[in-house]
Amino acid sequence: MSSPPVIAIDGPSGSGKGTVCRRVAAELGFHLLDSGALYRLTGLAGRHAGLAPGDEAGHARLARGMQVEFGADERGDERIWLNGEVVTDAIRTEQAGNLASQVASLGAVRQALVARQRDFATLPGLVADGRDMGTQIFPTAALKIFLTASAEERARRRYNQLKDKGLSVSLADLSREIAERDHRDASRALAPLVAAADAVELDSTGLTPDEVVARVLTLARERLIG
Ligand code: C5P
Repeated sequence: MSSPPVIAIDGPSGSGKGTVCRRVAAELGFHLLDSGALYRLTGLAGRHAGLAPGDEAGHARLARGMQVEFGADERGDERIWLNGEVVTDAIRTEQAGNLASQVASLGAVRQALVARQRDFATLPGLVADGRDMGTQIFPTAALKIFLTASAEERARRRYNQLKDKGLSVSLADLSREIAERDHRDASRALAPLVAAADAVELDSTGLTPDEVVARVLTLARERLIG
């Protein structure tokens, strides 16, 4: 039997990957892997356990053993459980993102999450959202997209998202944190954020989410059907 089709969408924070992946998965009726959430959950599990951010073996153990469930609440909004506790909002803070980026640089943690991520590839297919989906986790994906946007636009989008959630943040702080996180993600030795050689690069600066989704769907239909 042939393996389920995978669409790998990688790119930096704030490139619009989350929204685009969710909508493309819904349009195609595919499963969704939010790999960043797994790193965020590992960071949070480590904090709950009182681990130092650099404790590689401790975080790898948690990454392998944590019980994670992705689902939705009564209104259909995303809900995520970590060891039976709802952590949807807790993992979406900037602090959780920074912690995630620190534990994501630990090799044993990345290794511990490989099988967990590949398990998401089931029929009828998967849209995988991350940094290394096309390069490391699904190197034979049918379609690889590298989604970018200018740093200013990404900071502005993040700012609006957080403001909508009622969280108070400063645009200047966000821009600085995004630049720091980009730098750490792109310069780390393990699975740095780079486009796969066979990825289609898509710059979403100035495009609406609808326009980006439409472009990805066109490519998906060409590759998966055509
Ligand atoms: O995408 P998100 O902002 O939720 O990711 C949080 C952090 O997890 C990223 O900054 C990155 O360091 C790490 N990550 C990763 N590989 C992935 C997904 C996320 O290293 N596939």
